[in-house]
Amino acid sequence: MNSLRSMWAKRFKPEKNVLLSYSLFMLIVVAGASSLLGIVLTGFVRGHVIRMHASFYADSLSSAFSSTLPGASKEELARAHDSLEREGLLMHVKTMSIWDSSGVLLYGEASPFIGAVGNDPLVDAQSGSLRFIYKTTSVRGMFDLPRGDLALYLPIRDLRSTVIGVIGLIESDEGLADDLGIAARTIALYVSFAGVAIYASLFMLYFRSYRRQSLYSARLKKSKESIIFAMSSLSSLRDQETGGHLERCEEYVRLLAGELREDRIFRRYVDAEYIESLANVAPLHDIGKVGIDDAILRKPGKLTPDEYEIMKTHCALGASILEAARERLPFESELELAIELTRHHHERWDGTGYPYGLSGESIPLSARIMAIADVYDALRSERYYKKAIGHAESLKIIKAGAGTQFDPRLLFIVETCSDKLERIYNGTPCIS
Ligand code: C2E
Ligand code: SIN
Ligand code: SIN
Ligand code: FE
Ligand code: FE
Repeated sequence: MNSLRSMWAKRFKPEKNVLLSYSLFMLIVVAGASSLLGIVLTGFVRGHVIRMHASFYADSLSSAFSSTLPGASKEELARAHDSLEREGLLMHVKTMSIWDSSGVLLYGEASPFIGAVGNDPLVDAQSGSLRFIYKTTSVRGMFDLPRGDLALYLPIRDLRSTVIGVIGLIESDEGLADDLGIAARTIALYVSFAGVAIYASLFMLYFRSYRRQSLYSARLKKSKESIIFAMSSLSSLRDQETGGHLERCEEYVRLLAGELREDRIFRRYVDAEYIESLANVAPLHDIGKVGIDDAILRKPGKLTPDEYEIMKTHCALGASILEAARERLPFESELELAIELTRHHHERWDGTGYPYGLSGESIPLSARIMAIADVYDALRSERYYKKAIGHAESLKIIKAGAGTQFDPRLLFIVETCSDKLERIYNGTPCIS
């Protein structure tokens, strides 16, 4: 019964909380990009500062060892180390090690970093580049370098710039550590500011366009409703239906469909959007009456069978008017619902209705709900051909149609909404 309903529902479910989900998405992207930028910038600045710092050693140590290194004994190297210390060149240095150009340890202790597969600082220094290891957090285990300590691996070059050895230093320079810490925090601060500013402006931009979009959608929705209302009023213009009928149709349908949300069977098919759309298009159901001759439409008495046959065409006629409108829309819309409801609102549960003689669940749910609302209002109202009937009597007539005219499973709503139906007919606003 609800293939159309479910297709319709899928396409028309408006996205809930787009503002929230989009701004959350933007937040994640901006936060991610800022963190990445912060990490990259911090690494870059730290590398730069350490290289500047290391170049001080590179010059003085190279000149101290370039003449002694090839073939130097451990004692000679120890003396050179002592004299460098006396000169105050190794103030923060905790250990010093020296390797020759082929990687043999000549002096000092082997460093734990030496021999790291694919990332051996000794190999890099041998080939002429400066390497450093600096940990911002103390990592236990393989690289046991305390936080703030710096391991430097410097190539030593002779006068022709050939690498003749490598010096490894482990330094504990609190001043340097402080500088690096300040640099990292400064970068983090600026990048966070930039991130917040970018997020805020993106959010404002998005929020403004969202607001504008919402305004336009709301206006469009109002325009649509007023056009539906104008179209619907065409049918009641010539019909005997008096003022308020269209508004009442909308209210009955909203009430009845709303009640179905409480029902175990029907709640699967009925949600807030469906109810709202159904209520919006309900006033269109008799639009086809614009094409029925006044002589029949306003006939004071009972219709002849021939006249009734003509009267019955108002369903197909109405549907075809709406279909002509649908042709012009390149997307699915509430018109689908309007068409099925207009075409089928006089079908009967037992299959004896018109125009198709559909029965049971093959009658669209929208039309089954509409039928109840339509008949209730027709019974209550005075027509050219009939007197108005009271509330209780009307309900009795409707309930008598359970299983013949109406879906029997739907009629409980007439019972539970009895008071509200009456209030809608009387034009008393009902507080639900
Ligand atoms: P309507 O007047 O809006 O009535 C809609 C539906 O309400 C009717 O569909 C019928 O199912 C139900 N209904 C209306 N009055 C009574 C009633 O007194 N008793 C019961 N049991 N049900 C009632 P239906 O019969 O298919 O009629 C469709 C439309 O055709 C009506 O819309 C009305 O515009 C017109 N119509 C029907 N019978 C007559 C008639 O005898 N004379 C005239 N002039 N028009 C009629
Ligand atoms: C560097 O940036 O060269 C040191 C990184 C490391 O070797 O772990
Ligand atoms: C919509 O997209 O629901 C509006 C189109 C219409 O029903 O006319
Ligand atoms: Fe009708
Ligand atoms: Fe009607």
